[in-house]
Amino acid sequence: MTPQKKHPLLEKAYQFNTVRELRENGTYPYFRPIESGVGAEVTIQGKQVLMLGSNSYLGLNHHPRVIEAAKRALDTYGTSCAGSRFLNGTLDVHLELEEELAKLVKKPRAVVFSTGFLTNLGIISSMVGRGEFIILDKLNHASIIEGSRLSFGKVLKYRHLDLKHLEERLFWLPPNKGKLIAVDGIFSMEGHLAPLPRIVELAEKYNATVMVDEAHALGVMGPRGEGTAVHFGVEDKVSMIMGTFSKSLGSIGGFVAADDEVVDYIQHLSRSMIFSASLPAPNAAAALEAVRVMTEEPEHLDRLWHNTRRMKAALDDLGFDTYGSETPVIPILVGEDENAFMMTIKLQERGVFINPVISPAVPQGGALIRISLTAAHSDEQIDRALEALEQTGRELEIIN
Ligand SMILES: Cc1ncc(COP(=O)(O)O)c(C=O)c1O
Repeated sequence: MTPQKKHPLLEKAYQFNTVRELRENGTYPYFRPIESGVGAEVTIQGKQVLMLGSNSYLGLNHHPRVIEAAKRALDTYGTSCAGSRFLNGTLDVHLELEEELAKLVKKPRAVVFSTGFLTNLGIISSMVGRGEFIILDKLNHASIIEGSRLSFGKVLKYRHLDLKHLEERLFWLPPNKGKLIAVDGIFSMEGHLAPLPRIVELAEKYNATVMVDEAHALGVMGPRGEGTAVHFGVEDKVSMIMGTFSKSLGSIGGFVAADDEVVDYIQHLSRSMIFSASLPAPNAAAALEAVRVMTEEPEHLDRLWHNTRRMKAALDDLGFDTYGSETPVIPILVGEDENAFMMTIKLQERGVFINPVISPAVPQGGALIRISLTAAHSDEQIDRALEALEQTGRELEIIN
């Protein structure tokens, strides 16, 4: 026994055997090193595999204009701003990006954070104070949950997509107290769409404020990839629209768009912005160019939906339970966690990379594998993936 093992604080780490067991039996599916850029195919252990786990929905992380913009910014500004947005870390390219994003999601103003996770921490913890309330869909992203934990407000949850339950929650809250309904526009693991029109109706009825997280919906929903608020035509009724650059915009970073006064408030009170270094210029420039490409080249969005429809219809035909997905995020219900691990490893052996989703991210016995489509996939690649999915699904008796 090493002396460290005796520390009560460290004991849990030494007893954390699940990962060691999975590694030993060869079914550990996390932190798989990729030896290439992440496109429709990637290299793992020297072998080409189809990538069905990337969130680069429009494939813009490899678009020549986006790469060129990042290179130019690297030459002009270097690798880091060496400070917080609040003090010495705001560049003209941040402001240009904010203008473009506000225009995209049809809000007066936007402010950029260094990641989407930090954006959700910053918005919720600064906006919701003591004596106020946050009402969350149970399957909201972890960054919304963490932002809520950081705020001084009281957190209430409603069952996933259950608007009757949401209304019950709202009904009992004091009419004149601040109430934030925060919801994912597209649920990141399930691929479900938030029923925003009904949510904003309920918010109006009960004097609540709505914030939507467009992380997986930017570049996916709306005529030009503006997100779910614009897709449903409710952008005026959603007070805060947040998004990330780490998915369709081929970069990293996050933003929130809202009325001028709300953005001003958030950017002066968000500790996750003020006390963290700003987004490096190459990332800001890449996101900016990606927004432009996305609005000027609709073929990427068309291709994404073509691929999504092709994959979803074929999976349904094969008898997989695709969990009611309506978007390029397509989960397959596989049951026990072990099945998710086995599917992941066997599919990789057959040349397909997918992500496993296990408890507690989903209920026990409700493990998923998560497929995400991008505009970069060809019909041939999708058919090849389907063949591997069918073989593996039959082998593990997920389908007959
Ligand atoms: C719904 C949702 N919100 C926020 C985030 C955080 O975004 P980022 O990757 O930019 O930190 C993610 C990313 O995983 C997400 O899926």
